[in-house]
Amino acid sequence: MSDTVAGPLTAESIAGAAYIVAALLFILSLAGLSKHEKAKAGVIYGIAGMIIALAATIWLTLQDAWGTTHALTGLGLLVAAVLVGGAIGLWRARVVEMTGMPELIALLHSFVGLAAVLVGWNGHLEAPALTGALNDIHHAEVFIGVFIGAVTFTGSIVAFLKLSARMKSSPLMLPGKNAINLCALAAFVALTVWYVNDSQLWLLVVVTVLALGLGWHLVASIGGGDMPVVVSMLNSYSGWAAAAAGFLLNNDLLIITGALVGSSGAYLSYIMCKAMNRSFVSVIAGGFGIAAPTTADADHGEHREITAEATAEMLTNASTVVITPGYGMAVAQAQYPVAELAHQLRERGVDVRFGIHPVAGRLPGHMNVLLAEAKVPYDIVLEMDEINDDLDGTSVVLVIGANDTVNPAAAEDPGSPIAGMPVLRVWEADNVVVFKRSMAAGYAGVQNPLFFRDNSQMLFGDAKQRVEDILKAF
Ligand code: TAP
Repeated sequence: MSDTVAGPLTAESIAGAAYIVAALLFILSLAGLSKHEKAKAGVIYGIAGMIIALAATIWLTLQDAWGTTHALTGLGLLVAAVLVGGAIGLWRARVVEMTGMPELIALLHSFVGLAAVLVGWNGHLEAPALTGALNDIHHAEVFIGVFIGAVTFTGSIVAFLKLSARMKSSPLMLPGKNAINLCALAAFVALTVWYVNDSQLWLLVVVTVLALGLGWHLVASIGGGDMPVVVSMLNSYSGWAAAAAGFLLNNDLLIITGALVGSSGAYLSYIMCKAMNRSFVSVIAGGFGIAAPTTADADHGEHREITAEATAEMLTNASTVVITPGYGMAVAQAQYPVAELAHQLRERGVDVRFGIHPVAGRLPGHMNVLLAEAKVPYDIVLEMDEINDDLDGTSVVLVIGANDTVNPAAAEDPGSPIAGMPVLRVWEADNVVVFKRSMAAGYAGVQNPLFFRDNSQMLFGDAKQRVEDILKAF
């Protein structure tokens, strides 16, 4: 027989057990979301984990407050917050376009940051009666939580403004920008030590203002092309902000989920940086060490135009066709006629494949989701690295609403803002047809010399209409 004596079941221990179950479900959810086939199960695990976490938190709050005068006020506030938050969340999730997802995510991160700031401030104003080392730890948690939260808050707002084109996407290049960031960090460390020794309110005010400014400056200094990395980096910051709030509120679940979001966001940022050949450290340090682009707008010469009928003829005579979709395919919702085009060409014996750039569109996997929605078979959808070497010798490449991801300047012009970013080398094909509405630049705001190459022709107009015109011409 075991000698272990089981302690009494308390509200805290039951909620603690529920939190562990929820944390495990969140881990299973992340694991599921990493694979196409298991993504649906991953979402279900996530929802189940969140329901358990919410139920346990509500129950714990009620248990704590039961019989006190605060009980009813607490319950009222909790219900109101859940209803208002839930309603806004449901409404936004229903109406948001797939192309608007990154900016919505950026905005949601700003709320996590703001929540961490408020929890930190509350931790100061309603400080628990602690002494010695425990008191110092509490003050450090308050200060660090407020700092990370405020950086996340303004950083996410700038990311939202840039992604939704309400703010210029080019990087802000203040003189001495790296020195500004380093001084802000040094000031934060010094202020933390001061606050831990002498927790005065004005120090908290100063660090809040400092962090709000730093968050704004860090993200404003990063150019549009690196925005995907920034969004995932802010995702990571919001996770750490939540973990910091978890320490303050003594909530294990918040600590675990915050750490999960923080580390998975950091890892995703690292993978994206590798895919875009960017230095991870320089991006998370607000473009540290990245010099202003040196290439002025060059005169690339004349472009040529092609009609849908001529494109149809070119495609019928082709033996191999590669389709490289981008953000414009998502805007035009052209995935269905594009899938039909691929189907009809394959029926005619043409070898058709898709080449997907890792940051094509506006969020990771954007193109894969659209093509899967239009039932394009997985086996003809290849990643950039799998298809790049085959582009030389391909009869026709159809660039459908892609721009930065097929820009030769990234490979050939060291002064270009997107220099070094790996791109689909579509210009190596025999013929390239570019579907877009005008000669406007892509997301990074850089002109694309591809449009002026001898083997390139522009098919102007809405991508969906133009692809349908080609289908008609067949
Ligand atoms: P972009 O460089 O954004 O170019 C898209 C092109 O589509 C534009 O040049 C636009 O030209 C055209 N277009 C827009 N609407 C169209 C329509 N209805 N019909 C036909 N064409 C249309 O696209 P990309 O190559 O996919 O590159 C993605 C960019 O977004 C990269 O710079 C990347 O870093 C950035 N980014 C990516 C992510 C992720 S994670 N994927 C997140 C944020 C930002 P017109 O206006 O002339 O039609």
